[in-house]
Amino acid sequence: MLVLGIETSCDETGVALYHSEKGLLAHTLFSQVALHAEYGGVVPELASRDHIRKLLPLIDQVLEQAACTKQDIEAVAYTQGPGLIGALLVGACTGRALAMGLGVPAIGVHHMEGHLLAPQLEARPPEYPFVALLVSGGHTQLIEVKALGEYILLGESLDDAAGEAFDKAAKMLDLDYPGGPRLAAMAEQGTAGRFKFPRPMCDRPGLDFSFSGLKTFTLNTVTQHALPDGLPDEQTCADIAYAFQEAVADTLVIKCRRALEQCGMKRLVIAGGVSANVHLRQKLESALGKMKAQVFYARHEFCTDNGAMIAYAGCQRLRAGQRAALAVNVKPRWPMTELAGLTQSGVQA
Ligand code: KG4
Ligand code: ZN
Repeated sequence: MLVLGIETSCDETGVALYHSEKGLLAHTLFSQVALHAEYGGVVPELASRDHIRKLLPLIDQVLEQAACTKQDIEAVAYTQGPGLIGALLVGACTGRALAMGLGVPAIGVHHMEGHLLAPQLEARPPEYPFVALLVSGGHTQLIEVKALGEYILLGESLDDAAGEAFDKAAKMLDLDYPGGPRLAAMAEQGTAGRFKFPRPMCDRPGLDFSFSGLKTFTLNTVTQHALPDGLPDEQTCADIAYAFQEAVADTLVIKCRRALEQCGMKRLVIAGGVSANVHLRQKLESALGKMKAQVFYARHEFCTDNGAMIAYAGCQRLRAGQRAALAVNVKPRWPMTELAGLTQSGVQA
């Protein structure tokens, strides 16, 4: 089955063609970073309008890359939620209409399930069951994945998501949007041990997270060391970036270890934008190596938003007989635990 995947939940227009037997045939992405940079964050209306401009040309582009025509498409998968409502509507309306025009089925995909399944596109995919750490701009969740579609929420952030905390800390250091990768790059010049930031909620049992205290701690440290122009010197900024990244990574590692022990599992999948963080990957690999557990993640470009993960996730659900209704129904908020398992075929709500 050849599935066209469409991702438009936030500020990247992602399109891909995934074939159930041949694998990923083509994928392309347009990032709106430059469009939103001058505002310091995503402007929803600008995002929707740009998805409208880019989506059809990108679909033509993947078809050309894969040497296919529209008539070869056997199903369409689009992100149904969670995300920005206007942005979601662009992908959902286009995907649903395209499927109807071609007379093929469509499926609405949960964006975070897409992230969670992205490592399945790699050469060494994780077997089920496993524990997943989803760390993106909007979510920080630990999930017990019993099988595809069977998710138990083990813990989540009570306030900011890890990616959001990275972005806010980056802003305090006057780094441009999107701050996460920029802060990570700055941290490479940082001195280990100069600052020690707290590891929030690690001294009590449970698998929830909280990053807002760490944010305040970062702001206080920046303010205490600020020069008259409002920012600390360059080395101090790098040292703060290092301490912040170290604290987030340590906190995530502690909770991942705890989740694996609680579930009696030896496989951890990390997914979502923050799973691109090299420092976090290294720390997890070293900590989990000691408990003879393995870490799985997607290649860098499939950690952040992309169309390939939507095509893959959609393909699995379509093959199980699940279908989107004709009415377009996007879900800006959508808990992943509400998803149907793969054994339930039929028309989506
Ligand atoms: O999954 P994603 O592309 O979009 C959402 O679904 O939210 O994640 C974006 C988030 C942003 O907060 C971004 O700053 C963060 O992931 N991010 C990173 C890195 N790359 C992206 N955070 C830390 N280190 C990185 N290398
Ligand atoms: Zn995402």
